[in-house]
Amino acid sequence: MSNMDIDIFVNRKAILNYLIESTNSITKKNPPRIALIGPRKIGKTSLLWKLAEKIKQIPVIYVDIKSINGSPKEFGWRYLGTVIKQIEKNDINIFNRDEVIRTAQKSKDKNILRAALTLESADDITAVTTTLNLPETFTEPCLIIFDEFQGILKLDRFKQIDSILQIFRDIFQRSSNGYIISGSEISILENVLNNSASPLFGHFNLKYLHSLPEKDTLQLAKNILKKFDRNIENTALRYLARVTNKCPYYTIQVTKELISILIIQDKRMAKLNDVKRAIFNTVISAQGELYVYFNYLFDLILKRTESLRAKDALLFLCDNNISIHGLAKRMEISDAESSKILKRLLELDVISKKDRIFYVPDFLFKFWLNESYLHNGTPEIKHSIDECLSILEEKYLAAKTGLGHAFEAQMRDLIRKFNGQEPDGRIFGVDRKLKLPRVRTVESVSLGEIGDIDALLSNGEHWAVEIKNINKPIGPKQLEKFQKAILGLELSRNIKVTYRWYISYEGFSSSGRVFASNNNILISDWEDIQKLARFVKYRLK
Ligand SMILES: Nc1ncnc2c1ncn2[C@@H]1O[C@H](COP(=O)(O)OP(=O)(O)OP(=O)(O)O)[C@@H](O)[C@H]1O
Ligand SMILES: [Mg+2]
Repeated sequence: MSNMDIDIFVNRKAILNYLIESTNSITKKNPPRIALIGPRKIGKTSLLWKLAEKIKQIPVIYVDIKSINGSPKEFGWRYLGTVIKQIEKNDINIFNRDEVIRTAQKSKDKNILRAALTLESADDITAVTTTLNLPETFTEPCLIIFDEFQGILKLDRFKQIDSILQIFRDIFQRSSNGYIISGSEISILENVLNNSASPLFGHFNLKYLHSLPEKDTLQLAKNILKKFDRNIENTALRYLARVTNKCPYYTIQVTKELISILIIQDKRMAKLNDVKRAIFNTVISAQGELYVYFNYLFDLILKRTESLRAKDALLFLCDNNISIHGLAKRMEISDAESSKILKRLLELDVISKKDRIFYVPDFLFKFWLNESYLHNGTPEIKHSIDECLSILEEKYLAAKTGLGHAFEAQMRDLIRKFNGQEPDGRIFGVDRKLKLPRVRTVESVSLGEIGDIDALLSNGEHWAVEIKNINKPIGPKQLEKFQKAILGLELSRNIKVTYRWYISYEGFSSSGRVFASNNNILISDWEDIQKLARFVKYRLK
């Protein structure tokens, strides 16, 4: 971590104080057991470093488990090296056996040499127990921080090690040292800590680290700009904070890019368009920091999902918020397979779920995924910068207006392409040809208590359209509600609706279909819509 990162550190006061106070309680025989969990790049490591910086009374041992991976013995040498470096306050990193033995021989603490010598001839199980036990042999209490803790689970692959968590528990349970563990693989960590079958169940206080508050995100961007003697207009600044989801890492990267843009153009004040350009540069162009990061992240995700069709699934997900069944339909796979893929992506925290609908919450990642990579699986940039920026805007708005909005917007676009054409009526669930209206404007009508008409098409005759993207097939109840709304519309506008059309992404129940046919309601599901789109030559996203 560079110095620049340290002195721009903002906020996190409450959690930092909590961690400091908990650490101070070590001396009162009440050592902390805290798990700090948060999504990638949200600032866990920075916070832990800040904590280490603030703790003066006791030694702090910070171990990044990710960087000490390997066989139990390699794990041991690296762990010992890390501990020695911090206890002895050495500047140089110590990684391998020779370096560890050499420094251990010079150490005042005989336990260090003893551990190193034991490790030398240890089998797998002794290697990990000796290693994890080392801080327990010290006379003074200390605080041990395991960053990227979930990496420790890899040791379970070794035959002798039945459960690394069990070994770890046996050690810390008796310990008067403090333990803080941290990681970004939220689902895995939650499972390790909250699942009653796990050895760590109930032992750690879970603390979640979220994105920064808006005010601090704004401050962070401003601080960096200020260092380079630049400023930013308010609207531009707020846009930056929103698009970056208030993630400090994204905020820093976009701001850094913004500064380069300002320097090149010899400008002091950043405007909205500069921010958009900075986002484009860092996310979409091949040299962009976030472009590189997203590539790495994406590779990682694909590796972890292995043979599953996660790539295709993500492609759908970055354009649509979708249910298990919806994805199954789009990908032409079974619901079971779709559920398996979504479950895995959830576990990896790439996607989130709300009311049984799955979506990609990370806006910039989604933007990258959409624009620069997944196009029939081959990397390529799809749009020019200006197109890209307007897509960014559009997607941002769609994300903001929430689930279902994008689908509805597409259906409106589709309707505008009708132009009086005559497709096969079966697309609408009827046996005759239908003449589609020619309309420019697609009005939506709010009828207060009675409901809404999502689209009213008027060109001599009137079409009332309902557009639904919920995760259940539509049944008679919803169709009845639609009819009531139409009645309300007819009364309030003094018009007669000739065509009632219900579009449902998830289709209709069989009783829904019967009801529609008895009541003269045209119905279309996603497959019908695809056919219709092909017929009127509209490209669905
Ligand atoms: N509170 C903060 N103030 C300023 N910058 C921050 C803050 N928190 C994090 N950052 C910056 O954001 C970036 C990511 O932070 P950090 O590496 O701490 O996140 P992390 O959650 O540990 O990420 P990872 O998931 O990669 O482990 C770093 O450049 C860091 O300096
Ligand atoms: Mg980290």
